[in-house]
Amino acid sequence: MEIQFKQNPPKDGALIAFIYAGEKLPSVLEDSALISEKVLKNKGFSSKRGETLLLTPAKADGFTTILLAGLGDKAKVTPLVIQKAAGNAVGALAKTLEPKAALLLPSSDKESEYAANAAFGAILASYRFGKYQTKKSEDKEKSLTKLAIIVENTEEAEKAFKPWDNLAKGIYTARDLISEPANVVYPETFVKKAEKIAPEGLEITVLNKSAMAKAGMNMLLGVAQGSEKEPKLLICKWLGNPKKKNVSLGIIGKGVCFDSGGISLKPSQGMDKMKYDMAGAGAALGLMQALALNKAKVNVVAVIPLVENMPSGSAQRPGDVVVSMSGKTVEILNTDAEGRLILGDAITYIQKEFKPETIIDMATLTGAIKIALGTEYAGLFSNDEELIQKLIKSGRKSGEKVWALPMDTEYAELLKSDIADIKNISDGGPGSITAAKFLEAFVEEKTKWAHLDIAAMAWEDKGKPTNPKGAAGFGVKLLNQFIFDNYL
Ligand code: BES
Ligand code: MN
Ligand code: ZN
Repeated sequence: MEIQFKQNPPKDGALIAFIYAGEKLPSVLEDSALISEKVLKNKGFSSKRGETLLLTPAKADGFTTILLAGLGDKAKVTPLVIQKAAGNAVGALAKTLEPKAALLLPSSDKESEYAANAAFGAILASYRFGKYQTKKSEDKEKSLTKLAIIVENTEEAEKAFKPWDNLAKGIYTARDLISEPANVVYPETFVKKAEKIAPEGLEITVLNKSAMAKAGMNMLLGVAQGSEKEPKLLICKWLGNPKKKNVSLGIIGKGVCFDSGGISLKPSQGMDKMKYDMAGAGAALGLMQALALNKAKVNVVAVIPLVENMPSGSAQRPGDVVVSMSGKTVEILNTDAEGRLILGDAITYIQKEFKPETIIDMATLTGAIKIALGTEYAGLFSNDEELIQKLIKSGRKSGEKVWALPMDTEYAELLKSDIADIKNISDGGPGSITAAKFLEAFVEEKTKWAHLDIAAMAWEDKGKPTNPKGAAGFGVKLLNQFIFDNYL
């Protein structure tokens, strides 16, 4: 979608007006016969937050469509409310097939901030993954291609929009990677995409299978050994604060490009969804792209383990024991609990190579997290109370919310193996917590660490204001906000 900031609304296309509860209509609309107070009352429109009303004006009005979007109580409007209202508006207009719109912001002393957030929300809402539809759809729905946001100070608005535009680019990258089927995005092609982005400011290195074998990453290699696709370890650096010598933040993203379950094969019903088992990896790369584009003054390194989990004659068996990079031995009792295996070695690797003060991993780790938290919150697991509070706060601000679950040492008892140091599943036990406890076994005492279980957040089944059906790119917004709040 093309965004423009203009002083005067064009007199064609659609007109979107954001309205606070109890506020009168903007003056451009005052003389439209369609939108008298009485008409609005009859249509039951009361400018509640999230409410929209679509009107088709007479030709003389100039606009093809007028869309009113309610913001609710003015005192409670935040940038996130503006993002969602813009998303709702874009969603409502998609059915009209109108490609062009102008947007009137509500009166406020935060014109540029609201303009930037409206643009950002609109861009996220207009995302489509249509590249495999050869007949350009039957036009039941078509997202806007041009949006003019009306402001007094266009320069200020442009300036405020820039970082949001860059963040949107990162989210689009994540969504594109996550949406692609597993015959297109696999470890090698994921790396290709990263190499394509690298000139935007990222430094990239890639370990192939033999380099990983040398490093002793046998947990990761065990998962990959049933697949024809060679595993990769993608390392992505953004060192934006040269004054600081060390790495502040290490990011890890689960990159299982397809999770069949391996020999512990998943049921065929819904198995296709496991193409998005690399959503953590996609979000990690999208985040790094956004940081680089914004030249964020922070040193961040992402380590992204990429594999495919397949059953075959060379696949790992239930009962196998492997020696992890950390030296800990692991009994594999279920080959479908593979995410923790690749992440465990990635955690060891990032600590050894980069010694980050804090590590945050994002992973579609357990189906159980949806039972615990539904699709409103991602699961948060951490060894540091302060980090928990910071992530919860940035989650609320960004709209990508997280909720902390307990990590008492007693839960680790459930992972004791009869023949190795640790086993990869617990019998009984809370699935998401014991998965997190497994990861924690590879975290050094001095490292602050948080794990985000995004299994229920990575794919949007119904569609939300700023997330059409499909890949969410969950985590990019959250961690971008977290970095902004704590490092910049
Ligand atoms: N990739 C899955 C988790 C998942 C489920 C992600 C649904 C997205 C949507 C993960 O590798 C897995 O298979 N987890 C198992 C763990 C079990 C074997 C202990 C699960 O959740 O069933
Ligand atoms: Mn699995
Ligand atoms: Zn998985």
